[in-house]
Amino acid sequence: MIQGKFHEPVLAAEIIALLVRKPGIYVDGTLGGGGHSQAILRELFEKGYAEGSLLIGIDQDDDALREAQKRLSDYATYTSFVRGNFSGIASIINQVCSQKGLQPKVSGILLDLGVSSFQIDTAERGFSYLREGPLDMRMDRDAVRSAGDIVNTCDEKELARLFYWYGEEPRSRSIARAIVASRQKNGPIRTTEELADIIRGNALGRDKVIKTLSKVFQALRIEVNSELEVLRQALNDGIDSLEDHGRMAVISYHSLEDRIVKTVFAEKAKSDWGPKGVGLREPIKRGIISLVTRKPLIATPEERDANSRSRSAKLRVIEKIPTGECVESR
Ligand SMILES: C[S@@+](CC[C@H](N)C(=O)[O-])C[C@H]1O[C@@H](n2cnc3c(N)ncnc32)[C@H](O)[C@@H]1O
Repeated sequence: MIQGKFHEPVLAAEIIALLVRKPGIYVDGTLGGGGHSQAILRELFEKGYAEGSLLIGIDQDDDALREAQKRLSDYATYTSFVRGNFSGIASIINQVCSQKGLQPKVSGILLDLGVSSFQIDTAERGFSYLREGPLDMRMDRDAVRSAGDIVNTCDEKELARLFYWYGEEPRSRSIARAIVASRQKNGPIRTTEELADIIRGNALGRDKVIKTLSKVFQALRIEVNSELEVLRQALNDGIDSLEDHGRMAVISYHSLEDRIVKTVFAEKAKSDWGPKGVGLREPIKRGIISLVTRKPLIATPEERDANSRSRSAKLRVIEKIPTGECVESR
């Protein structure tokens, strides 16, 4: 049962201004409650771009798809919804376009990473240390491995590695040790609250507790949903699916995600001019995108006040360069 607002879209005005510039196929790879998609569709209509346009909405979570379909029902002829992982973005685009007799080249792609407010706020999804629920954290509820499976089956070393790399948690080893000790003494850890209690007993000082809880829960969520692996794949395949001058916008919420987005975009934007001093007239390999935002955009103070989720958001946007054009000089 959905209570309150499903999800407030972040940096929506900035996304619309940078992404929606002509009629075409737009892909929202992280549909959620459909807030960004609704803004994209509204803009297409207001600008007179709706005819010939299509919005493909992808989410791996059934609840999100249901909510977005309801919210966007007025736009039914301009939308296609797909339940799936955005790691399969290229094949999803190919499939939808071939069903509709369209060329599989898209004008805009949006990825608004992570989880929705609805997922975080729903206790039985098990994403939050603030709400007692089963240790689940799967965005795709058909996925085989939950956070509980990881917490109760990984050994101490594996858990410590996970909290260190995906949570950047300095006390990763002692938390892993405490989890394994609790398992041995009391049996499996079943709920978010049981796990949070073990972490609380291991955080140094009261003000560190919240940070440590956030980091450990973040690490488990990333592992359960393979978030970093699928992101890399979606960025690469998404860029390949863009038409000339098509754009991709990505909002990330923590440094691990943003580092991947920044690195993939920088690699794809770079031309290779060979060794210094050779003086080639053409690069050996051309960059295939340009960076529309050299530095990530962040929310305005007004948005940060109104929507706490926007405080950690970073938006990066790129544009596909037509083959044969080269914007970057040496
Ligand atoms: C931050 S919310 C998006 C909110 C949305 N922009 C809105 O305005 O309502 C992220 C959504 O993306 C989905 N998601 C995250 N990773 C995904 C992936 N790899 N494949 C498909 N959906 C994903 C989540 O299930 C969640 O519904």
